[in-house]
Amino acid sequence: MANKQASPGSARMPGPSYRELITRDNTPPPGALLTEQYTFAGDNDIAFANYTSQDYAELEFARMWPKVWQWACHETHLPETGDYCVYDIGNASVLLVRNSAGAVNAFVNACMHRATQLKASGSCGFVNAITCPFHGWTYDLDGNLAELPHDWDFPHVDQAGSGLRRIRCEIWNGFVFVNFDPQAVPLEDYLEVLPDHFEQLPQHPREITLHIEKHLPANWKASQEAFLELYHVRETHAGGHPETDLAAQYDVFGKHVSRFMHTIGAPCPMANPVPSEQVLMKRLWREEKNWIPGAEEDDVPTVPENETARDVYSALLKRRFSETYGHDFSNVSTAAAIDSIQYFVFPNFFLFPGLSLNIAYRFRPKLNNPDQCLFDLFYFQPTPAGRSPNQAPEPIRLGLDDSFTQVPEVGHMARIFDEDTGNLRAQTNGFKISAKTGATLGNYQEIRIRHLHQTNTRYLSNE
Ligand code: FES
Ligand SMILES: [Fe+2]
Repeated sequence: MANKQASPGSARMPGPSYRELITRDNTPPPGALLTEQYTFAGDNDIAFANYTSQDYAELEFARMWPKVWQWACHETHLPETGDYCVYDIGNASVLLVRNSAGAVNAFVNACMHRATQLKASGSCGFVNAITCPFHGWTYDLDGNLAELPHDWDFPHVDQAGSGLRRIRCEIWNGFVFVNFDPQAVPLEDYLEVLPDHFEQLPQHPREITLHIEKHLPANWKASQEAFLELYHVRETHAGGHPETDLAAQYDVFGKHVSRFMHTIGAPCPMANPVPSEQVLMKRLWREEKNWIPGAEEDDVPTVPENETARDVYSALLKRRFSETYGHDFSNVSTAAAIDSIQYFVFPNFFLFPGLSLNIAYRFRPKLNNPDQCLFDLFYFQPTPAGRSPNQAPEPIRLGLDDSFTQVPEVGHMARIFDEDTGNLRAQTNGFKISAKTGATLGNYQEIRIRHLHQTNTRYLSNE
C-alpha cells in the first residue's frame, strides 16, 4: 500500500536510487549527473481538452509557438556556404541559409514581391543565391534583395529595404534554434542548465547517421509524454515483468528543461533474486550490443569477480568507440557512456547525450489536426577524427500506419517505437471516450508531464 502520510512527491521506488547506483561505477560520473532537482508541483488532473481541443491548439499556435526557442535543424544540415534547409511549424516556414561568413541566417520563407514560398517545406539543398521561382526576385545569402528584374517598373520599391525578413536564430552545440519573438531571451539563457551540463558530458564532434520523420496518431504533447516518463516501460515494452522496472531519476530544472536518467545494465531494484553480474551482462549483450561497432560476432564478455556488468560493458564500448572513431573516450564515465539520459527542452527538443544512446527527438503539431503530430528521430555518432562531419542525411518518411521496423537502421529500438505508437493511438481514442475529463499523473515519475503543461499554460496566459 502506498504511504498516504508521506508528503506528496516524496515517495520513491524501493531499492537503490539512480544516484546510488552510478556512484558505485568505476569511472565516476560528472557532477551534472549527480544533481537532483525535484519539487512537488500539484496533483490535479490534466484536462483532456488540452490535447483534443482545436481551440486550445490554436491558442498554442498564437501564443506559445511564436515565443519559444525551437530546434530547427542541425549544423550538419547546412555545412557549406549556400546550403539551406526549411523548417516548418504551424503555418510558419523558416528558410535557414549558411552565408559566406559561415553564419546561419533564418528568414521568413516567402518572397517580398507577391509572397511566393521560396523553398519547399521540409526541403534542404544548395543555392548561390535565393531566387524566387515566380518572377525571379533574387536575394543574396544575407537576405538582401540583390536583383529585382524589370526594376524600371518598381520605382516605388526601396530595394535596400526589401530584403527577406529575419527570424532570430542561434546555435547551441551544433543545434540550430529559431525564435519568432524579437524580444526573446538569448538561447543560452533559455536553455538553463543545459550548456553547463553538456560541458561535463562527452564533447566530440557528432554527425547524424539517421533521420526518420514519422506521422504519429496523437497530439504533440501526448506523443512527447510517451517519451518523458519510464513508468510505462514495464507494461508497454516488457510484458509487465516487474524485474524490468527502472530506478529512474526525474529532474525539473527551471521553466524549460527537465531530465530523466536510468541505468543500463544494473539490476532492477525490485529484482528477486538479484541476478548475477554475468546474467546482467548476457541481457546487456542481447539488448544493447548493436550500439558497439563490430560486436555482432563477439561472444558475451565475461565479468571478472568484483566487477560489474555495466563497468565491463562500458569499458568495452569506450574502447571500441575509441578505435572506430579515433577519439579518446577512456575518461567518459560509465553512466555517460551507456545510460539512458534524456534532457527535454520545452516545447519539443529531446536529447540523449550518451556515447551509445546518442539520439534526439523533435515533435511538431499539425495544423488543423490536434490528434496527430510529426515526429523526427535522429541518431548521432561521433565524427571520425581527421575529417569533417558528414552532411545530415535526407529524412526517411514514415506515414501514420508505417512501422519503424521498415527501416533496418533503427535497429532494436524499432520495436520499442512501434509499441509507443500503439499506445498513442489508443490514448487518442481514449481521450474521446473516457468517463473522466482529465489525466491523473504520478507525483514523481510523471512530474515532467505536469511540468510540460505548466510551462505551456504560462505561455498561453502570456506570462
Ligand atoms: S512572387 Fe517572388 S518574384 Fe514574384
Ligand atoms: Fe516507450
